[in-house]
Amino acid sequence: MGVITDLTRMWLTRSTRRFIFTSEYDQRLSFRDCPNLGLYVHIPFCKSICNFCPYCKTTYSEGLCSRYIDALIREIHMTGEQAGLGKTVTSLYFGGGTPALVADRMKEIVEAIRQHFFITEGIGVELHPDNVTVPVLQTLKEAGVTRISIGIQSFQKKYQDILGRRAMDISALFLALKTVDFETVSMDFIFALPGQTFEDLRTDIDMAFENGANHIAIYPFIDFTFTTSPVGAMHKKEKRWLLDEITKYCLDKGCIRTSIWTFSSEKHAGYSSMTRDNFLGFGCSATTLLRKQFKINTFSVEEYCRRIDKGQLPTSLTLRFSLRQRMVYYLFWTAYSTKINPADFEGFFGVPLEKMYGLELNLAKLLGFVTKQGGVYRMTLKGAFYYHYYENFYTLSYIDKMWGIMRKDAFPPRIEL
Ligand SMILES: C[S@@+](CC[C@H](N)C(=O)[O-])C[C@H]1O[C@@H](n2cnc3c(N)ncnc32)[C@H](O)[C@@H]1O
Ligand code: SF4
Repeated sequence: MGVITDLTRMWLTRSTRRFIFTSEYDQRLSFRDCPNLGLYVHIPFCKSICNFCPYCKTTYSEGLCSRYIDALIREIHMTGEQAGLGKTVTSLYFGGGTPALVADRMKEIVEAIRQHFFITEGIGVELHPDNVTVPVLQTLKEAGVTRISIGIQSFQKKYQDILGRRAMDISALFLALKTVDFETVSMDFIFALPGQTFEDLRTDIDMAFENGANHIAIYPFIDFTFTTSPVGAMHKKEKRWLLDEITKYCLDKGCIRTSIWTFSSEKHAGYSSMTRDNFLGFGCSATTLLRKQFKINTFSVEEYCRRIDKGQLPTSLTLRFSLRQRMVYYLFWTAYSTKINPADFEGFFGVPLEKMYGLELNLAKLLGFVTKQGGVYRMTLKGAFYYHYYENFYTLSYIDKMWGIMRKDAFPPRIEL
């Protein structure tokens, strides 16, 4: 598996140089000249822990959580002060963990951000179904939240049981969504679970759109090596068939494919903390992507607070990109939106896309992975499946390895991928 990602990396970066992450980091980050900068805040607390979940999280305790939020606000100021007279950013996303566990401090966090950044495209928050109550939604709305994403996973008991998730009170959830409105209401589902059929998924998709969602995300189940879930991965052929059927069904319903696994029923609806050219991440495990570097904060809540107490950034590892590495990173995440605009690439790097990757794009056209329409490369169904398939390799070879190490060691000296 690693061989495929290694060979692809060497081919696309035209070099045998690996992605080298070291503990040496910058206290000052160069983001003032970064266009399309997004912000992300990580809240690593959950009421109970799901055995399939790879994200950085720990069981909620009031004392630790309160210490963490104080530290988080200090990290925001530490970096934000480098913005000078304020910096325009696209969006702000809160992820986790379960960010709504700190709903009462959300306003304070948003205000800290607003002292340094001007947000143009709204604020998104990831919610556990238990958080979808009228008081919580109202508190979030008052803090400035405009988009929510709810981790439904499945409306059906059979799959909730497989994932070890408790049944939710669906009617209370739907009623709360009717009472407090948001620009985007997204719902997350997991597909490719054992025995799952297209009919199961179609029922969930219809139920979501009929009850307040205007956006859905359907993620393939990923069996991380360090999680304890007994659920195995579905066979490639079956998975491909499911992904194609879901896609066709959503497109036939009139939905817009906003990325490989997301669909919206309304043009303005969108929820993605991933497809941004540059971003600053705050909190445990949060990542930052800038023109020349990618950095990742420590996964340990204790060590995070300790670093901040010393007035230092909580960076655990930093990768300094070569130009080709940055281009590959840019293309990989832009492709997640199912299209690549050569004008945007040239605007970012100052060189034409076709000059750097003309051969690969022609090959992708020949193989039927992309078509070029109106000057923009768009992924075909086949291309989207292979991207999804490759992303799976990437997740298992790179993310699995890195997160597997970082959840055990707060500050590993070096990781090579
Ligand atoms: C941080 S969680 C969501 C928010 C909230 N904590 C919850 O559980 O409802 C983000 C999303 O990642 C997806 N996810 C988590 N573990 C996954 C896995 N092993 N494979 C695929 N998707 C996964 C789920 O759909 C989940 O809603
Ligand atoms: S899936 Fe959500 S609730 Fe479950 S452990 Fe992960 S972040 Fe927490």
